[in-house]
Amino acid sequence: MTESKRVALISGAGRNIGAATAKELGGRGYHVVVNYRTSGHAAQEVVAAIEAAGGTAEAARADVCDADDVAALMAGVRTRHGRLDLLVCNANTVTPPFVPFAELDWEAFSAKVNGELAGSFFLTRHALDIMRDQRSGRIIYISSTAADAIGATLAHSVAKSALNTFSRHIAGIAARFGVTVNTVAFGAVHTDATAEFSEAFWNYTVERSVVARRVEPEDAARAVALVADDGFGFTSGQVIRVDGGFEVLDRQLHPLVEGPR
Ligand SMILES: NC(=O)c1ccc[n+]([C@@H]2O[C@H](COP(=O)([O-])OP(=O)(O)OC[C@H]3O[C@@H](n4cnc5c(N)ncnc54)[C@H](OP(=O)(O)O)[C@@H]3O)[C@@H](O)[C@H]2O)c1
Repeated sequence: MTESKRVALISGAGRNIGAATAKELGGRGYHVVVNYRTSGHAAQEVVAAIEAAGGTAEAARADVCDADDVAALMAGVRTRHGRLDLLVCNANTVTPPFVPFAELDWEAFSAKVNGELAGSFFLTRHALDIMRDQRSGRIIYISSTAADAIGATLAHSVAKSALNTFSRHIAGIAARFGVTVNTVAFGAVHTDATAEFSEAFWNYTVERSVVARRVEPEDAARAVALVADDGFGFTSGQVIRVDGGFEVLDRQLHPLVEGPR
């Protein structure tokens, strides 16, 4: 059992935002459970990187959309560690279909919405059981600013809006036993999921970013770690946008009011 260290479980942590988050939390003293579905080798590399930096971690396979897999995953966490201090629901379970509504079929739409919620639903059920017993813990859902967008992101937007609402309900339930629940909504982050976005798209995000550069998985990971930090312990039920400042410039009615950069 890991008696002295806090334990964090990150879903879909073999690659990209999940992997960067696992490394960031490993560096902050958590024992990290690196969940993966198919990327076993990559998950082992994340574990090795955490250990090389002086931390501890383990890889754990589970399809988070499969109730039995999640039950076994969480039973393993309880048996090996006797605790769970942080759950990050990060897995990108269904790649969103970015197509116009006229081309969006019901199967693709419902698969995205169901897949988005299934992983968070099953993980949350089990995490709350452990956290209720220990009367402490944090849950963080990874959402998207697409929840508030309109356009070809329709399926993704509906899925992430539903996740935001789900997270607020869970925050209300978990508050009764001292567990905080927040959601981090990212703008575009440069990962495999967005690798095929055009250069024009990335230039657009950079032009509209406060920091004038692309958001990388490591930036996203630091934001998740911040929300997990004890300093954030008085906040629950919030959806926190981490979008490079994109929204700030969206509110500026005319860019010439303040002049170019
Ligand atoms: N990239 C962005 O621009 C962006 C923006 C806003 C929000 N987000 C959100 O951030 C999160 C991570 O995104 P990403 O871009 O890093 O995703 P990604 O590059 O597509 O990586 C997907 C990850 O999810 C895992 N995964 C998929 N289905 C799974 C399942 N059923 N069970 C367990 N793991 C599963 C994959 O694991 P395996 O490889 O092991 O199968 C992989 O590690 C997602 O929730 C996404 O919606 C991303």
